[in-house]
Amino acid sequence: MTLPIKISPSVLSADCVAFGRDIAKIENDAQWLHYDVMDGHFVPNISYGVPVVKALTKATKLFADVHLMITDPLFYIEPFVKAGAELITFHVEADSDIQETIDRIHSFGIKCGLALKPKTSIEAVMPYLDKIDMLLQMTVEPGFGGQAMVEDAIGNLAILRKAAPNLDIQVDGGINADNIGRIAKEGANIFVAGSAVFGAEDPAMIVRLMKERAEEAIKG
Ligand code: DX5
Ligand code: ZN
Repeated sequence: MTLPIKISPSVLSADCVAFGRDIAKIENDAQWLHYDVMDGHFVPNISYGVPVVKALTKATKLFADVHLMITDPLFYIEPFVKAGAELITFHVEADSDIQETIDRIHSFGIKCGLALKPKTSIEAVMPYLDKIDMLLQMTVEPGFGGQAMVEDAIGNLAILRKAAPNLDIQVDGGINADNIGRIAKEGANIFVAGSAVFGAEDPAMIVRLMKERAEEAIKG
């Protein structure tokens, strides 16, 4: 089974004075929209929270892919569901009970993702691969957009893909049109891209190019 390729531009790199205008640029070409929520505790940065996510999910038809980089995800599932999240990803390194958080997310009838940072052993996520809808392999240390990809994280992808052939595997951090092909070949099928998309002159063109290159790479 070949899983469909999806591009999920990260709003973190959009212009916050004009989120709506930037989202409109990729509305017809991207498949998902990625919302990075940071609490200044799990990661050394604070981004935006429930009110911003709520406003933006109303402003777009794109599938709402919410990435929680927060210490206590369990406590915030319901507010983000009410804000329009269609998939909530939380970190295996966070403080909340993992199975309880997965169950809470599923109890609202939405999808659940589990994320791991580049230096975290993949053994930490192995017990949950058949309980989640998506695995997020971080390809940079979470906290900031615009960082260079950590090569070690790419090495995990083939192992994860082999362990879970039908699971959506997302990568996040440092992904661009030049490296997407080789990452797709390693087994990822959902690609977050912040600066590569919103830092470009023509974000829609970059989204289309990234999707094409990933599809081409897994063909042959
Ligand atoms: C990093 C975030 C990413 C970030 C990616 O903590 O999780 O989603 O926006 O940005 P780029 O694509 O610029 O590395
Ligand atoms: Zn993210």
